[in-house]
Amino acid sequence: MKNVCMVGTGYVGLVSGACFAHLGHNVICVDNNRERIKNLKKGIMPIYEKDLAAIVQNAYKAGRINFTTDLGKAIEKCQIIFITVGTPADKETGEADLSCVFAVAKDIAKNIKNEYKAVVLKSTVPIGTAEAVENIIKTAAAKAKFSVVSNPEFLREGFAVSDFLKPERIVIGASDGKSLKIMRALYKPLTDKGYPLLHTCPATANMIKYASNSFLAMKIMFINELADMCEKAGADVQDVAKGIGLDSRIGHKFLNPGPGFGGSCFPKDTLALDRMAKQYGAPLKLVETTIAENNARRFKMLAKIENAFEGKLRGKKIAVLGVTFKAETDDMRDSPSIGILSQLHLSGVSLVIYDPQGKKHGPQFFPYAKFANSAPRALKGADGALILTEWPEFKKITARDYKKLLKTPLVVDLRNMYSPADMTGVTYHSVGRKPVK
Ligand SMILES: NC(=O)c1ccc[n+]([C@@H]2O[C@H](COP(=O)([O-])OP(=O)(O)OC[C@H]3O[C@@H](n4cnc5c(N)ncnc54)[C@H](O)[C@@H]3O)[C@@H](O)[C@H]2O)c1
Repeated sequence: MKNVCMVGTGYVGLVSGACFAHLGHNVICVDNNRERIKNLKKGIMPIYEKDLAAIVQNAYKAGRINFTTDLGKAIEKCQIIFITVGTPADKETGEADLSCVFAVAKDIAKNIKNEYKAVVLKSTVPIGTAEAVENIIKTAAAKAKFSVVSNPEFLREGFAVSDFLKPERIVIGASDGKSLKIMRALYKPLTDKGYPLLHTCPATANMIKYASNSFLAMKIMFINELADMCEKAGADVQDVAKGIGLDSRIGHKFLNPGPGFGGSCFPKDTLALDRMAKQYGAPLKLVETTIAENNARRFKMLAKIENAFEGKLRGKKIAVLGVTFKAETDDMRDSPSIGILSQLHLSGVSLVIYDPQGKKHGPQFFPYAKFANSAPRALKGADGALILTEWPEFKKITARDYKKLLKTPLVVDLRNMYSPADMTGVTYHSVGRKPVK
């Protein structure tokens, strides 16, 4: 059993902290957002994530997790200090903005005493960050005994708890035996169950994380480009995806055509890898193209929507189903909906949005839109529907519902939620398939 401190209680920090507590460790979650900590003590989750509230509450009742803003006290009690703060893209350079990571490193340096600590980077960070954090701590606390480890996280929002507890791999980038031994002990409840732990150097661990996300982003853009070609060539991209996905070397995951990738990871991580590769003089052309094509994707989607409305968007009322960057999350960061809907708004469209989780953050991204409490309420009386997120509940809406609720039965489905054959009587536009009327 280890005493673990998680600095940052967002999607990664809170989930990891709660899961480590669930596995039997003692966890202290630290955040500089007082409101967040106050709410967590009351059992109010700052994010929507399946199974998270229950696992946090159980661990809290068992006395294995606590929440504080006091990093100093947490450090005193814990041998392992995780850094799980955000590393967004720098607005000017596109590189990973490490200011939050370095701020935490400085706070750790101020509070570290004589006992040995393993400082673990779970945030997604570029090569060289472990060394930079080590220098920050050494400069301010010359006598401190510590190691810096890179332990990237691979959980998916929407499945974060189960991903953490059933990981496909645990990657530990450690350059000394002592910190590696501590990390192995921390993850023992998982490795005992057979989940693989890969030990690398910190630089390799960083590369594994960026390469994984960039490869998946590339896979998404590959199927998106194929979808565009299928539309022109009269092929069906869903069947193409099924056909190539059955090849076990390719696999069916991340072959869903759509409006492009978004979220808090793929856009910034592809950018960071691209910038890093250029700095090392080894540009990654495939990643560079993936980023450019993803940026262009929203304009292609706008053209598709405009085409579906026969060029007459001004004055139309569109019901938007889904705005989060993917289903099963409330995360709006870099969602494709942000660019698409702002352009539609500028084109004179009035928008009524329904998203099962988008209402919390949605209004700040779409101040010009109305929000409805259900899909039928959004659809009622609109000139057409636009599906942007693949929430499972939208699958239950039938052609009959669209015909009954919409003023004109026109559906632009950027997530291919339905089989065109089921959309009888609806003008149905999807991605990579022939439109049906
Ligand atoms: N979200 C994901 O699905 C995911 C998956 C894998 C890896 N990651 C990586 O994990 C890292 C964290 O991502 P996230 O989505 O959990 O971020 P987040 O924005 O949800 O959470 C970050 C938290 O850190 C806190 N924080 C910031 N500065 C702090 C400081 N100085 N002291 C204490 N707390 C501070 C914030 O208040 C916030 O609660 C990023 O590097 C991200 O790339 C994210």
